[in-house]
Amino acid sequence: MAQISELGYLGVGVSDLAAWKRVVTTVFGMQVVPGDTPDMSYLRIDQHQYRIELNSRGTDDLEFAGWEVKDAATLEAIATQLEDGGVKVKAGTRDDAAQRRVVDLIKCLDPNGIATEIFYGHPVDPRPYQPSRAGSGFKTAGQGLGHILVHSPDIDASVSFYRDILGFRVSDFTTLSTPNGPLRLTFLHCNPRHHSIAFIGGPGPKRLNHIMFESNALMDVGIGRDACLAHGIPIAIDLGCHMNDQMVSFYMGCPSGFALEYGWGARVIDDATWQVEHYDSVESIWGHPQLKMLATGDAAA
Ligand SMILES: [Fe+2]
Repeated sequence: MAQISELGYLGVGVSDLAAWKRVVTTVFGMQVVPGDTPDMSYLRIDQHQYRIELNSRGTDDLEFAGWEVKDAATLEAIATQLEDGGVKVKAGTRDDAAQRRVVDLIKCLDPNGIATEIFYGHPVDPRPYQPSRAGSGFKTAGQGLGHILVHSPDIDASVSFYRDILGFRVSDFTTLSTPNGPLRLTFLHCNPRHHSIAFIGGPGPKRLNHIMFESNALMDVGIGRDACLAHGIPIAIDLGCHMNDQMVSFYMGCPSGFALEYGWGARVIDDATWQVEHYDSVESIWGHPQLKMLATGDAAA
């Protein structure tokens, strides 16, 4: 079956564009590029013209996700797979493609109501990526911009959509009982990145739980954490190393009320040898103390 290559871009509606720009430059060293209108900004982390569109629509949540496929034939095949799976597909217009700076795209809704775009021809900017502070850059080549964790009222429908229609593969399942009831998570990959999208079962305050960006160097993550402490940016989950992707990371609050994860050193998946894993805990190998509180029902979580 035709498959998605990588997570290409995200659109986030924000109510405080200035605060967002401060966080992403101060903590991550991202490059902010003016958008098509004054109420829009693009965030660059590599040679792509943008990876994140911030617009001032004020939803403070994920507005759309753009998934890349390699070429026109794959896009056409994916459209057929979606239609065969009973998903309503809309062709992107020339204006849509021009606004996203891609060659062509199709649009649909995922089971969580996320406006999902599938495109080919990613936007390359000949001007080099210019970070707002010195750093080693982000791990994106062949792995996409990072990953997202989405609150999913129907986790089985979400897994089915991404795995059975879009060709993702399951990395692992997590099932555990907590003092607040059963908790299910599923992590899926579409390239060597351990997961490009993951779902946490049940409704959440927002669609988006967090966006993760992976640095090329642990030093940048440490410098980012220092920047949070220096600038009063709340750390939601402090440094630790996850069991499943083995990413060393921390999570900060962002001005839109979900979290941003800054990580380094995740293991990658080789589909030729990967076997689906199962976890009955969300605790980390070390650190991430707030996750342990979640698992044990500590009031501080
Ligand atoms: Fe994450």
